Amino acid sequence: MEQEWENFKEQVRSAADILEVVSSYVTLKKRGGRYWGCCPLHGEKTPSFTVDPSKQLFYCFGCHAGGDVFAFIRQAEHCGFGDALKLLADRYHIPVPERTGTPQEQERQRQKQAVLEANETACRYFRACLTKMPQGREALDYLGGRGIASAVCERFSIGYALPGFTSLLVNLSKRGLKEEVLLAAGLIARREDGSFYDKFRRRVMIPIKDPRGRIVGFGGRIIGTDDRQAKYMNTAETDLFNKRFLLFAFDVALPAIRASRQAIVVEGYMDAISLHAAGIENVVASMGTAFSREQAKLLQRCAEEVVFCYDSDGPGRAASVRAVSLARSCGLKVRVAAVPAGKDPDEFIRSRGERGKEAFLQVIQGAEEGLAFQIDEVLRQNNTASLAGKVQAVSNILPFLLEGSSEIEAAAYIKELARRLVIDEGLIAEEYRKAARSRGRKTVQAQPQSSAPLGVARRVQEGLPAEKLLLLTLLERPDLVTDCEETVGKFGFTCPAYQAIFDGIRAYVADASPKTLSEFLLDELQDDEEAGSALAQIAAQELQKENLEDTFADCNRQLTYRHLQKEYERHAALAVEYEKAGDGRYKEELARGLQLKKEISDLYHKA
Ligand code: UTP
Ligand code: MN
Repeated sequence: MEQEWENFKEQVRSAADILEVVSSYVTLKKRGGRYWGCCPLHGEKTPSFTVDPSKQLFYCFGCHAGGDVFAFIRQAEHCGFGDALKLLADRYHIPVPERTGTPQEQERQRQKQAVLEANETACRYFRACLTKMPQGREALDYLGGRGIASAVCERFSIGYALPGFTSLLVNLSKRGLKEEVLLAAGLIARREDGSFYDKFRRRVMIPIKDPRGRIVGFGGRIIGTDDRQAKYMNTAETDLFNKRFLLFAFDVALPAIRASRQAIVVEGYMDAISLHAAGIENVVASMGTAFSREQAKLLQRCAEEVVFCYDSDGPGRAASVRAVSLARSCGLKVRVAAVPAGKDPDEFIRSRGERGKEAFLQVIQGAEEGLAFQIDEVLRQNNTASLAGKVQAVSNILPFLLEGSSEIEAAAYIKELARRLVIDEGLIAEEYRKAARSRGRKTVQAQPQSSAPLGVARRVQEGLPAEKLLLLTLLERPDLVTDCEETVGKFGFTCPAYQAIFDGIRAYVADASPKTLSEFLLDELQDDEEAGSALAQIAAQELQKENLEDTFADCNRQLTYRHLQKEYERHAALAVEYEKAGDGRYKEELARGLQLKKEISDLYHKA
């Protein structure tokens, strides 16, 4: 079974030509050895998406997505590996092996499918209740009163659950749906006596879809206000309905998000629906729960920037502070919009009537930079008149500065912060560097390569960083890998993805595999998404083929230099520490340090 599946995978891989597959999503033009086009994963006007047919890899210089044909389908179709495989198998008429997975897995798969079907059927039924039944009038009036016209209801497949206790149960049973399935879908519940009843009653039903557009759950809103029951009743959380992985309205908003490269994130279902109704379509809702990393990743695939538009009250602002951090650390540009006068976006846009759309767009336009918003929040919460307050504020702000900021950006904010707190800029900068070091993140000063004493290695820096260039050279000449056993083979790479690629090349040479290097690596790295995309990124770079061995030696030397320099700094620091403590071991550290200095100087003067 296992073997059969492996063979199937290989069959699909060799049949599926990445150029052909990608070409059905976007027009590609040949330039050099590569094909270029506008990225179908993030939507853009100037082409930064490339396909390399010889390596069977794609890479986008804009959104940094990259990988093989499976990675492409997963991202273009928002699906998992298994589905990507099946989709390609289908396209190339390769039969899918009959049974896949263990019996339990198959059972789970069947159950999932059944729940999805039940949701679809329930959604159609709720739609019919809203639009065709007399009892639906009440809900239609309520929605109409909130400015949600029938066309909007249709776009979001909004429906109505009748007040009775068995309307859905009876109707769906008639269509052959089993009670266990309705129960698993959370559409009905069981009483103690064993009888069943509808979970959602007299509620406006809002279907919630996953990124692939399948209905995975519902949010049901009571009509009007009623303090005795929760305003919204949602499908209970399951594997299929996990809010962390979902954004309400994502499916409807995707084209607009891709086109504008921007996503507006609101809290509530009604905020999203109301903004869409007003013609602002790049809006999704995080559904009241804390914005998650998974949600950020979802947006990062299709947008460059997110604008959070949460409530302006205390909890809303605290939620925004956290959301900004998450989104920034996923590489998104972030801003925070403040809707005036304590209104939510829905209330705001409707309060402005005809002018609503324009007024809301102005609020978005005026949104504050995410990091600036976070700093403002911290400064507001600390009494910065006192020295203790200033110190506290700085230490609360440092983590925000470190998340996804460029050095230039951080420096600008440090300057501004120093001005606002009336303290010395150098002090904050020093704290920042300390914090950066303890996070293992290199700051401008701490980067040894900037002080490398060399003519030769400088050439390397002009283009790619040395680690990348070394790997790129190895992709062309894997045989050279044995020449770095004593260098980077020993002390390793700074980033796990690069290390994984390097280890893959080593294994390729050691195995004397009959596959091509890229086939071999793609197989090795199949479960390592980060390494796969790093590989695609590196492979997409231009490599000057003349003097390849010199380039290789330069990289090798530079990486060695960096390693030795780091070691030297470590021993030197230890020596200082020991000496201060009156510990005799300082002599050994000093000696080791001096020896390292000599090795460093030999590196450039011997050769
Ligand atoms: P809001 O109360 O801001 O919702 O809660 P809203 O969309 O503005 O609702 P309206 O305008 O009063 O109709 C934000 C989100 O929190 C979740 C829902 O996803 C809601 O959209 N929520 C809120 C619940 O799940 N249950 C609740 O009882 C309340
Ligand atoms: Mn609201």
